[in-house]
Amino acid sequence: MEQGSQLEIKMKENLEMSPWGEKKLVFGEGAAAPLLMMVGEAPGGDEEKQGKPFVGKAGKNLSAFLDVIGLKREEIYISNVVKLRPTKRSPKTGKAVNRPPSKEEIQFFLPYLAEEIMLISPKIIVTLGNVPLKAVTGDKKSNIGDAHGRPVPLGEDRALFPLYHPAAIIYNRSLSQVYQEDLLKLKAFLTSFS
Ligand code: URA
Repeated sequence: MEQGSQLEIKMKENLEMSPWGEKKLVFGEGAAAPLLMMVGEAPGGDEEKQGKPFVGKAGKNLSAFLDVIGLKREEIYISNVVKLRPTKRSPKTGKAVNRPPSKEEIQFFLPYLAEEIMLISPKIIVTLGNVPLKAVTGDKKSNIGDAHGRPVPLGEDRALFPLYHPAAIIYNRSLSQVYQEDLLKLKAFLTSFS
């Protein structure tokens, strides 16, 4: 998409001048005018290697998610709030490992996410976890524990549907049932658009 690639170029140029100039940019990808845009937190190691969001293990989780709601990867648009891989050195191995994105990283990428949403113009934005929920609503007090599984209007013709981040389910098995129920609610919500 022409405007999308212009945004990517602008982001790359500004990233080069930022404290994260050495980092690889992982831009969003997917359908040009999708019903649904999914927004994650930040890319991990597989995403950094391949330069694509939600591949590797996260991509497998995404496929299972899409199976439940009855959509294909190429039918949606997928992105992250932070478009570089946040890392720290593991004291044990000395290797780069993932860490949550910093406030500064989130702040740097927020205007680009807003621009990306305007360009893609989805009817529904699905956020995964707290970081994208706060980024999309602009409400620092919003919390996924309260907001998950319920659509929220975003202006006149867009809705936000917050979900837990799939990684949260790995660390907290009791959320698994809640997550499955939320997916079914999202599926039902999607049918109201067709
Ligand atoms: N991979 C991504 O691209 N984003 C996430 O939030 C998690 C894994």
